[in-house]
Formats: sequence, C-alpha cells, structure tokens
Amino acid sequence: MSLIEKLSWRYATKKFDANKKIAADTLEQLLATVRLAPSSLGLHHYKVIVVENPEVREKLKAAAYGQSQITDASQLIVFAAETNLDEAYVKKYVDEIVRVRQISHESLEGYKGMMLGSVNGQTTEQKTAWAHKQAYIGLGVLVSAAADLDIDICPMEGFSAPQFDEILGLTEKGLTASVIATIGYRSADDVTATFAKVRKPAEELFIHV
Ligand SMILES: Cc1cc2nc3c(=O)[nH]c(=O)nc-3n(C[C@H](O)[C@H](O)[C@H](O)COP(=O)(O)O)c2cc1C
Repeated sequence: MSLIEKLSWRYATKKFDANKKIAADTLEQLLATVRLAPSSLGLHHYKVIVVENPEVREKLKAAAYGQSQITDASQLIVFAAETNLDEAYVKKYVDEIVRVRQISHESLEGYKGMMLGSVNGQTTEQKTAWAHKQAYIGLGVLVSAAADLDIDICPMEGFSAPQFDEILGLTEKGLTASVIATIGYRSADDVTATFAKVRKPAEELFIHV
C-alpha cells in the first residue's frame, strides 16, 4: 500500500479489540519513529509515557470522559510537555550534540547562545506552550507511523490534563500532559471504520502563491 492508501485506511479508532496486543518489536519500531520527529532547535522538549497498567488506565479513563479506547487499546501514549526548559536543559542538549557529532563545545558557542536567548526570552507559560506544540509534532509522526505499520490509533484531546498530571505524577517530573493517543487494533464491529473521510477540498486547504 502507498502512504496515501495507508493514511486513507487509518481512522480515529473508537473501538479497539481489547484482546489484541501490539507485538513488542512492532511497538519498539513505532516508538522509535517519535524519537526521529523534528523539534524546534532539536530541543525535543517533551516526553512520551507508554501506559499499559490496567488499574492506572482505568483511572485515566475516568479523567477522559470515560472514552473506552483508554482501557481497550493495546497501549495508551501520553505526550507530556517539559515545564522546566532552562539553561541546564539547553547545556545538556549541547553536551549531547558534542558527544554524538564529536565536535568541540567552542564550535557550538553561537548556537548555544541563540538557544539560551530563545529560552531566556520567554516566560514559563510561553515555554510550556512551545513545548506543547513540539509534542503535537510527535503525535503527528506517531499517527502516520502507526498507519504505516498497520496499527490503529486514536489521537485524543478529550481528557483533563490536570487529572492526568496527578494520576501519572507528571508535575513532580517537570511535565504536563499535552495530548494522548491510544494504539492497538480496531474491533471488527467498530462501525466508524466504514465512515467516509470528510476533508476540506484541496482548493480550500491549499493556497498557492
Ligand atoms: C488532536 C486531536 C484530538 C482528538 N481528540 C479525540 C478524542 O478525544 N476522542 C476521539 O474519539 N477522537 C479524537 N480525535 C479524532 C478526530 O475526531 C478525527 O481525527 C477527525 O474527526 C478526523 O477523522 P479521522 O481521523 O477518522 O479521519 C482527535 C484528533 C486529533 C488530531
């Protein structure tokens, strides 16, 4: 199947087959794609929590308007924005570039200064809003990658972030929930799978200048 065919096959799955689990190596491949997502300045300032525990998922379902995907899917993925983007975070990232690319700290002085300027020039709220945007890029990659791997997925905003933060202990980790996704395999009787895709016509969506 071409990518367009796979993206047409996928849909926001409303009913998962609770008996079907994603194989460990397939899950690993899927998660690896999120590591490769682009991010502003490469800071990747969010984390991805993979929730399998049934009791935790039961609590999270209550914090997500009772949506059954939370407990029936193979896994629940929570994208959480970093709330502590500071100088130490930037310096750690610079150290990592130096290590991976085998280059000198001196050669990165300009880049580091630019990143620190960007980080120090924003309020905490602005930085967290920025981190949420990065998390959504991760979600976008995950949605496309799931389709490519024949995995069903439902991206979800219908949940209470403060309640998720509390249940998952995110606040003390310097994180706050951005957006979530449930992954697994569609139930054979999920009628939503048969719904035709409703999308803006290309002439309304694209503006060619
Ligand atoms: C950021 C985001 C949040 C969403 N939140 C929910 C949700 O909470 N529950 C749900 O069932 N679907 C949710 N959806 C699915 C959308 O309703 C769905 O993607 C849209 O109607 C287009 O349908 P399709 O993805 O099946 O083609 C969400 C989608 C996105 C991208």
